[in-house]
Amino acid sequence: MTDYILLKKSQIPLFKNIPFFYKTQNSEYALYKKKGDYLDDSRLSSINYPDLYILDTDREKAMVELTKALNKDLEKKVSEGRLKAVREALASIVNEALTPGQEKNINSLPETIEILIGRYGKDHTAMGLLTKLGSNSSVLVEHTVNVTALTLQFCFFHKLSDADTQQLSMAALLHDIGCTKIITKLIETPNRLTDKQYKTYITHPELGHEIITENTNFDIAIPIVALEHHERLDGSGYPKGLNRISSYSQLIGLIDSYESLTYRSKLFRKKKKPYDSLNVIKDETYKKKFAKGIFKRFTACLTK
Ligand SMILES: [Fe+2]
Ligand SMILES: [Fe+2]
Repeated sequence: MTDYILLKKSQIPLFKNIPFFYKTQNSEYALYKKKGDYLDDSRLSSINYPDLYILDTDREKAMVELTKALNKDLEKKVSEGRLKAVREALASIVNEALTPGQEKNINSLPETIEILIGRYGKDHTAMGLLTKLGSNSSVLVEHTVNVTALTLQFCFFHKLSDADTQQLSMAALLHDIGCTKIITKLIETPNRLTDKQYKTYITHPELGHEIITENTNFDIAIPIVALEHHERLDGSGYPKGLNRISSYSQLIGLIDSYESLTYRSKLFRKKKKPYDSLNVIKDETYKKKFAKGIFKRFTACLTK
């Protein structure tokens, strides 16, 4: 039997090489658009616009085409210099990359990073502004976009090499990909986690490491960040309680904490002003959870 997948409405205009199908009144699938055609605007805005499907066997091809189209869209927005639009385009890419079942898709992310550093590497203030723009996407997507923007800001401010900037920002994009294997309710809850929920939650670093190593040939530094970003230098972190942690993991771990404190309110704590979040992290640095040098360099890139 042939299987079909329902397309998200927002993705429909992006496909060219994939045939579309719709369900007839007899619940049979019929061809709506053949391979090689885009839908024109009049067909897209038609009132009788049906739900559209693609063949399950086209799934991988469709994903490649989709991420290429999303990257192209990002490139266009970057060249127009509209930050809010850039942020939204980046959120769409992250949203696709974090959709369970599309792990192979993360192989298109290096292109996304190149687009971002190609233009913004020369323009520090733009990246600073990007981190300040609000976003109405889901918790995990918003968090990932924020952590990536802050990481890029750090790299540009300290003039890291292109190779380091690429690796660090890829690591930032993928640091929480393991969360896609955990039920969304648990990731998005504003409540304090119960012991049982916490035990599930802290499996995400190992799950993330596994997803990246199984689906990509990315440099080992990238899955290591997914594995270690909740480890702390005093051994109080998880999953392993390590006190030797890669410097990339230390940096993304610190940015990750800063992002959660600054951008997200929970029922048991309100989000903080950047200065107050930095004070919390400063205390943790005194307790030897974070390295002093990394804390100082991060503070510099935020305050200058
Ligand atoms: Fe995490
Ligand atoms: Fe995170």
